[in-house]
Amino acid sequence: MRLIDELVVPLLRQLPSLLRNLSTADIVAFERAWHQRACPPVLEDPYAKLLCGPLLGLAARFRPLGWYVARVELGRIMPASMVVVIRARYAERALEDAVEQGVPQYVMVGAGMDSFPFRRPDLAERVEIYEIDHPAVQRRKLERIRKAGLDVSSTHHFIGADLTEVTVVDALVSSSFDIARPAFLSLLGVAYYLAPDALEATARSIAARLSPGSCIVVDYLLDQASSAPRSVSVREDLLNLVEDCGEPMQSEYSLDQMDTLMRRSGFEPVDACAADELEDAYRRELGSLPFEVPGIFGIGTFAIAGPRDRGEAG
Ligand SMILES: C[S@@+](CC[C@H](N)C(=O)[O-])C[C@H]1O[C@@H](n2cnc3c(N)ncnc32)[C@H](O)[C@@H]1O
Repeated sequence: MRLIDELVVPLLRQLPSLLRNLSTADIVAFERAWHQRACPPVLEDPYAKLLCGPLLGLAARFRPLGWYVARVELGRIMPASMVVVIRARYAERALEDAVEQGVPQYVMVGAGMDSFPFRRPDLAERVEIYEIDHPAVQRRKLERIRKAGLDVSSTHHFIGADLTEVTVVDALVSSSFDIARPAFLSLLGVAYYLAPDALEATARSIAARLSPGSCIVVDYLLDQASSAPRSVSVREDLLNLVEDCGEPMQSEYSLDQMDTLMRRSGFEPVDACAADELEDAYRRELGSLPFEVPGIFGIGTFAIAGPRDRGEAG
């Protein structure tokens, strides 16, 4: 009884304000952790609960608290968690192909609390991994890794950078990254927070300076006209939630607009779709999904264009 009065009740009272101070990196890590209850999950991530921070980590482990967070506090945006797991799976499938073709480096741009290097040793041991994020986010992540007792391998590198001040390529060249060799890059859950000109500058510098054979997977917010009408309220709730977290979204695109931006920047589209178009394939493979995938996200794979394609792109 004392435990409930002294710990649980005060915690429940403070929860809404504590949750408002979370970062989007912690929220998506919690979404991956909570998704592990799905049978089977789209993405297996036993480490997400260790990296999503103390409060959400407790929620991921203690079912009544997790239920409150996932159903009440974050309930309205939980359908969007489907894109968090789908985009990671989509990117890792593309990474598998790249690794098979001999690409030796993986750059996680805006890696947040993604546990990829721990949960995919099969891929992680075949590439040098570079995580780029704000220095403060990386300090938090390294502290959580240390507390969880996870080993950081010598091929797993952290580069602290604010991408509004430094380009991805400048951040990479300050590290052991080998610019002469191709790389696979992911920009998952990040384009949302970059204005179109910042995304274009990032894409341009990558296309201009990284080796041929490099490619990137990007997901982004679909503009209102391209979004599925059934998903309008999830879209609005998501925009409001990230604004409350102090990380308002900065951009939205149609599939064509993203195609044009990436071509103009020196990339050639390999694959592009609205993320909900991937839903059927996952349903066929896994049987059921916890939520319908909201039709508000685009995702694509883009390869650095050869000199001829760049000439055509003008
Ligand atoms: C929604 S989280 C996604 C994290 C991770 N990719 C995932 O899927 O779990 C967005 C990440 O982008 C990072 N980010 C956003 N803007 C950034 C910037 N200007 N420079 C560096 N990192 C940035 C945030 O710190 C955060 O970790």
